[in-house]
Parts: sequence; structure tokens; C-alpha cells
Amino acid sequence: MPRLVKGLDVGTMNLVGALVDDSGETKVKLMRHTFLDIDINPFTKNMLTQTKVKYVEIGKKVYVLGDAAFELANIMNKTVRRPMQDGVISPNEADALPVFALLLEAVLGKPREKGEIVYYSIPADPVDANFNIVYHSSIIEGALKNIGYTSKPMNEGHAVVFSSLADKDFTGIGISCGGGMFNVCVSYKSIPAVSFSTSRAGDWIDKNVAQVLGIKVNRATAIKEKGIDIAKPKSREEEAVCIYYRNLINYTLNNIVEKFKRAENTPSFPDPVDIVCAGGTSLIKGFVDVFKDELKKVEFPIPINDVRLADDPLYATAKGCLLAGLAEAS
Ligand SMILES: Nc1ncnc2c1ncn2[C@@H]1O[C@H](COP(=O)(O)OP(=O)(O)O)[C@@H](O)[C@H]1O
Ligand SMILES: [Mg+2]
Repeated sequence: MPRLVKGLDVGTMNLVGALVDDSGETKVKLMRHTFLDIDINPFTKNMLTQTKVKYVEIGKKVYVLGDAAFELANIMNKTVRRPMQDGVISPNEADALPVFALLLEAVLGKPREKGEIVYYSIPADPVDANFNIVYHSSIIEGALKNIGYTSKPMNEGHAVVFSSLADKDFTGIGISCGGGMFNVCVSYKSIPAVSFSTSRAGDWIDKNVAQVLGIKVNRATAIKEKGIDIAKPKSREEEAVCIYYRNLINYTLNNIVEKFKRAENTPSFPDPVDIVCAGGTSLIKGFVDVFKDELKKVEFPIPINDVRLADDPLYATAKGCLLAGLAEAS
């Protein structure tokens, strides 16, 4: 039986791998979940050699993975490809599957022993979208198997609970705030009581901000990521970002309320619990302030002690997958 374990966060925007190395240190690696495919000809080969980017050759095509794909796409005036859309593997990118395994290997490395176990994140059932989690996870499992791993799925919100609520006996609420979706897990002593995903997330903010301001989506993303404070918007543009962030947080909280109303056998939480947020969308300044503000406006079913960000918001899911794996392997 293999005993070594790695954690993997499969996100729409980023792939993150986590492992404990020989010296007992936790190591993480983040990579953009994108690639660029280029037809091989003397001109493109020359360009690749000159720019010194790493690439993989399959058949008549060359593939450039991760961040380097962006740089090269700019130079060549092409658009990068993204294997995932709205939180799951995109069926439109079916021919990207061989490249998907290359991306996973680039972020995880090779297995350190035969059939090494990888706990990978998957979204919880969606409240507002219709996607097929079976397809999504079988693609990931297939790719991991090709590299030589054994894989186990792990609910993304639950992974955040694992990495960020250990000191609270794994009781509380973990929210992964990504690009394609939000994943929420209400956990009682490490058992998920309520978990779900929503499709309002970072990309949703960008799309709406772009629409109301009449600008390109890329531009809206740039405004959002340039370091604004959503608790203190200073211009019409910043105000637009703030409005959609508020709406998104309010929407997420209301979904928790609704889920609790409808769920059967939910545990009662005698003591106030923490809400921990992770993911790229939680990185904006003022996120926790706005979150607390919106929390006051809803009748929340659980007493809340504090709202905070995870220690490493971008790594919390991968680390949580790793921790869950280590806990189960021991
Ligand atoms: N500093 C930032 N401020 C606001 N949003 C950010 C920041 N950095 C990244 N993001 C947003 O985070 C989202 C990606 O988060 P991530 O957790 O990596 O997503 P995923 O899990 O979907 O791969 C994108 O919508 C991106 O625009
Ligand atoms: Mg994510």
C-alpha cells in the first residue's frame, strides 16, 4: 500500500500542488491553469528557441504550459487555452486532455512511489449551475493515473476547513473564493454538515463590472486586481467592483441560510464558529470588512465568532487536501 501523499487544487485559474518533503517541510507550487498550442514550423521553432521557453512536443504541435503560455501568447498575438471553465473541466476542451496530464505533472512532479496517493479538490454540488461532477472527476482521475498516481477526490470547501480550522477541532465554515466558483463547507468536528458551490465568483464580478462600465473583461479584471479597497471605493470603477463583491458575498451568505433551512439533521452549533475564506477572490483589500458587513444583514443560522482569511489564501485548498490525505494515511 502506498503511504506517500500529495495535495492538489484543481482550479479554473490556478493549479496548486502540495507535499511534505524529506525534511518534513510542506512545499507548495502554484501554476496558471493554461497552455498555448502552436503548430510546428521553422518559424515557431525558432521563436521558441529564441525566447527560451520550455515546451512539450506532441505530434505536429508544441505545447507551452502555465505562465509562460501567457508571455508567448502576447508575443505571438494568440490567446491561451484554459482546460477549465466555471469551475469544471470544459467539455469544449476535450482535445486538451493529453495536455491536462502534462499540466498536472508540471505542478505535482512525478510520483515518489508507485501509485502515490493524490487528494485533489472537486467542487460541491452547485446551487445555480448544471455541471457534471462525474465527468470532471473522471478526467482528473484518468490524467493522474496516466502520471502514475492513485487519486481521491476532496470537497474544496472541506479542504479549506482542513487547512484552516484545525485549532477549532475542524468546526466552522470554510469558503473557497475562486475565479469560476465559490465552494462552501459548514463542518462540525470535521464532518461536512452542509456543502455546496455557486457560480458567482471572480469571473462573474469581472463580467458584470465590464458590462456596466462598458469595458473589456480583461480591463475589469485589471481594475479589480490592481489593489483597490472594496470597503472604501474611490471612483466609479471601484464602486462597480465593490457593488458586485457585496452582491456576491450576500448571495453566498443567503445560500448558506437557505441550505440550512432545507437540510435535514443539521447539527446544532452551541458555540460561535469562525468563517475562514480562501482563494484569489478573497485577496482584495476590504474583503473581510465587507463580508462582516453583509453578515450583519442576514439572519444567520449559526452564531459566528469571527470572519478571517486563511493564512495562505491561494494555497489553503491544496494544503487542506494534503492534510486530509496525511490524516487518512497515518
Ligand atoms: N489581488 C487580487 N484581488 C482580487 N482578485 C484577485 C486577486 N488575485 C487574484 N484574484 C482573482 O482570483 C480569482 C482566481 O482565484 P483562484 O483561487 O486562483 O481561482 P480558481 O480556484 O478558480 O483557480 C480570479 O477571479 C482573479 O481575478
Ligand atoms: Mg479554487
